[in-house]
Amino acid sequence: MEYSRFNFKTRQQIEEFCTKNGIQIGFSDELKVLSKSVEIGKKTVKNSLGIHPMEGCDANPDGSCSDLALRRYERFAKGGAGLIWFEATAVNPKGKANPRQLNITEENLEKFKEVRNIIEKESEGCIVIMQLTHSGRFSKPEGKMAPILECKNDILDRHQKLQKLNIITDEELESLEDDFAKSAKLAYMAGFDGVDMKSCHRYLNSGLLGAFTREGKYGGSFENRTRFLLNCVDKIKAAVNDDSFIISVRLNIFDSIPYPYGFGVDKSNYLNPDYEEPIRLVKILYEKGVRLLNVTMGTPYYNPHVNRPFDSGEYIPHEHPLEGVARLIHGAYVIKKEVPEMVVMGTGYSWLRNYAPYVAAFVKKNNMADIIGFGREALAYPDFAFDILHDNAMSINKCCICCGKCVELMRAGSTPGCVVKDTDVYLPLYREIIK
Ligand SMILES: Cc1cc2nc3c(=O)[nH]c(=O)nc-3n(C[C@H](O)[C@H](O)[C@H](O)COP(=O)(O)O)c2cc1C
Repeated sequence: MEYSRFNFKTRQQIEEFCTKNGIQIGFSDELKVLSKSVEIGKKTVKNSLGIHPMEGCDANPDGSCSDLALRRYERFAKGGAGLIWFEATAVNPKGKANPRQLNITEENLEKFKEVRNIIEKESEGCIVIMQLTHSGRFSKPEGKMAPILECKNDILDRHQKLQKLNIITDEELESLEDDFAKSAKLAYMAGFDGVDMKSCHRYLNSGLLGAFTREGKYGGSFENRTRFLLNCVDKIKAAVNDDSFIISVRLNIFDSIPYPYGFGVDKSNYLNPDYEEPIRLVKILYEKGVRLLNVTMGTPYYNPHVNRPFDSGEYIPHEHPLEGVARLIHGAYVIKKEVPEMVVMGTGYSWLRNYAPYVAAFVKKNNMADIIGFGREALAYPDFAFDILHDNAMSINKCCICCGKCVELMRAGSTPGCVVKDTDVYLPLYREIIK
């Protein structure tokens, strides 16, 4: 179906478009369901709205939050969402995606306590999960590409124009498992409610899940490809040793990269998902004590339209953004249906603008996900949750327009934020990069 920008004037127009084109997205007026609290093990999320992790690329040189990052989390905390999924935080300097990515260490622990305290003070009991990451093939710690690959990947290696393939060894992976465990312990000490073993968007651990062509104990079979993630979960559990601490995973259930290079893909057509392995993995994660899963897809580098349906980006996608939205929502539903005891946070709502709450209410009411997560929307409209819960609506004038300028800032090596709605800070930064 042909791509087009958001051009709907009413909810009815979207519903008619979906019906006409066989896109399955439901709507409900019962927004009150979104105020329901959600239990995750021993912790409670006060409502069913969450904010996805979004890197600000604005850390201090020591890896701690700068004033700009503190401002972001203060805005998020005041906005009323029950859960903040704190942005990608590197477990070691080599695994940073940019020189200004956060990196938690013993030395900067006090500063991480500070951001956690700010969120506590401003939010009345928001749950905060720290996303722990190693950027793998997208590592750029000094500002230029320094890829650490999970394995040779003809599609992504070509896309990244890689000459030399620096593949991480089994010994290095073993030692990296300890880095994840150590960082999780630090996050716990800083007062975070849990950590996420980032397994998405083809950063290192997500890459390993699709490492069909890697040799040795971390590649090839399902058991080998999931080894790193599962070992990390075990090591985090042992390091923290507190069963109220949430161990979660942000998981790509569909890479949309051809076999044998992508996870969760139909082997004969990489444009279609095959959720058999992701479901198998989620069941194992649950058995190991993981109680929270954030479902996502694609990679922002190779197929960003799968990752975040947009109105303008680096290319014109082959599908309508609503198809991408529907895929993300349906994927989360499949996981929730197969593993109902897992708390599932869904992705893909920002493109829907002020109609998102009705879709969110339908999803929540029908138990297709537990927490509805917003990414770009939170940069544009940090108090979206407050408006949904108190005014029963989102204001169209405050909504993200999916223009991609936040990502342009990031790709240009600047610090991403909303150029259109948070103009005081981010418009001048955008003017700098387009000069
Ligand atoms: C500026 C920016 C930074 C992001 N950083 C992260 C990140 O740190 N970790 C992550 O898992 N996803 C990251 N994402 C992806 C978002 O969490 C989210 O999955 C995506 O934007 C789709 O959700 P949305 O349609 O609500 O925006 C980022 C996205 C943007 C636009």
